[in-house]
Amino acid sequence: MTDTVTYKIENRIAWVSFNRPEKRNCMNPALNRRMTEVLDELEFNDDVGVLVLTGEGTAWTAGMDLKEYFRETQAKGLGAIRQAQRESYGWWRKLRWFQKPTIAMVNGWCFGGGYGPLYSCDLAIASEDAKFGLSEINWGILPGGGATKVVTDLMPMRDAMYHALTGESIDARKAAAWSLINEAVPADQLKTRVLEIANVLLEKNPVALKATKDAVRRVNEMTYDNAEDYLVRAQEAAHYYDAEGSKEGIKQFIDDKTYKPGLGAYAVKPQK
Ligand code: ACO
Repeated sequence: MTDTVTYKIENRIAWVSFNRPEKRNCMNPALNRRMTEVLDELEFNDDVGVLVLTGEGTAWTAGMDLKEYFRETQAKGLGAIRQAQRESYGWWRKLRWFQKPTIAMVNGWCFGGGYGPLYSCDLAIASEDAKFGLSEINWGILPGGGATKVVTDLMPMRDAMYHALTGESIDARKAAAWSLINEAVPADQLKTRVLEIANVLLEKNPVALKATKDAVRRVNEMTYDNAEDYLVRAQEAAHYYDAEGSKEGIKQFIDDKTYKPGLGAYAVKPQK
């Protein structure tokens, strides 16, 4: 089970990989359990400032394992089905609210259940030759496990409907045009581009990053007034964890004149 997910930490970036390349990194129960452990190992590790999720081989992930996650689990009955769902949805939820910013580095195929972790990552950058599809309709089910919610949250309704009903896969440029991902880049520039973004994030105040990523996800479901109130309280809560950060940010601009907030981040005290 342990090798279904691999990771290494380099310069405060955790590079986490789906690691079942011979099965196109489809998610079986063992992978889902291991990913939960890996996220737990990394979330409050002070050596990690950003998490990147990628895949070994030609796939990011070919979605749920149709044999082990669906057929074999269904054969064991409802308890096993619910257990498998809790494990997969559980790590996607953990990733959605992860303490550190997260980037999906989509190196290849991304299907069906893969939209769960894709959405969980705060940002998504894909290789131009990656392909995305809600293939559920092609084997006779609806896009569950949140996948329908993912596309209706991210895409215009007509595109989401076409995508879900036809099961046609789209390339990364179209995925970017439909807002499923941030950017499509040539395969040989994928890691460089992700590294560039990760390094931008590593320069920011980590308390403000977590408050911001949560706010972007939360306010989407709120009325304007509720969002306004939530943001006041979220900032005050962030102040509890870092009372000095923004004061230092103002000081370095107004008094020290060492940077301009419109053009970049203040010098955050180095993290451990
Ligand atoms: N579940 C189980 N096994 C899978 C899956 C999957 N989702 N995806 C790939 N595999 C297995 C194949 O059965 C094959 O196994 P084998 O070597 O024992 O025969 C191996 O991985 C390699 O797959 P190929 O199909 O030979 O690889 P190829 O590169 O030609 O095609 C592709 C890749 C297009 C991703 C293809 O494997 C595919 O269509 N996979 C299914 C994608 C899908 O619909 N996923 C489910 C989405 S719905 C959901 O997640 C709820």
